[in-house]
Amino acid sequence: MSQPSILFVCLGNICRSPLAEAALRAEAIAAGLAISIDSAGTGGWHAGNPPDPRAIAEAERHGIDISHYRARKVRREDFQRFGNIYALDQQNLRDLKRIAPNGLLTRSTARLSLLMDMVPGREGTAVIDPYGGTADDFAQTWADVSVAARAIVSRML
Ligand code: 4NP
Repeated sequence: MSQPSILFVCLGNICRSPLAEAALRAEAIAAGLAISIDSAGTGGWHAGNPPDPRAIAEAERHGIDISHYRARKVRREDFQRFGNIYALDQQNLRDLKRIAPNGLLTRSTARLSLLMDMVPGREGTAVIDPYGGTADDFAQTWADVSVAARAIVSRML
């Protein structure tokens, strides 16, 4: 069986989805699981940029360096390359469903879902966009994506 592959998608790919990527990378390593992991944004305004400095600082608080991550926009191939695509909020999920390729040869094969649906008791909730917020909001983002990352890994064990 091929290695599981997971893409996290938010709006800008500089705050929430890079933290989700970092959290799952850490949980996968801790569990000894090989998972192909990436993140992207539905918007391309920050493409090529490193994560927001507050996201870099939050990851660093947990011993993880994400300063080399670079933002990118979701691509059509992502819908066939990844087994699961997790949207960080409901708008991201709506946007993903709208842009998912639906042609005969290019139909999306990825399972699209809301990230927090993986966490019992948190179904249907968003990882709130911390971009306009404070360091505390980024700490909340980390709490959300790390509980989701643990839930993803625990379902794979
Ligand atoms: P993210 O946060 O979607 O978690 O990366 C945002 C980053 C940038 C913007 C909005 C949200 N923006 O409007 O530029």
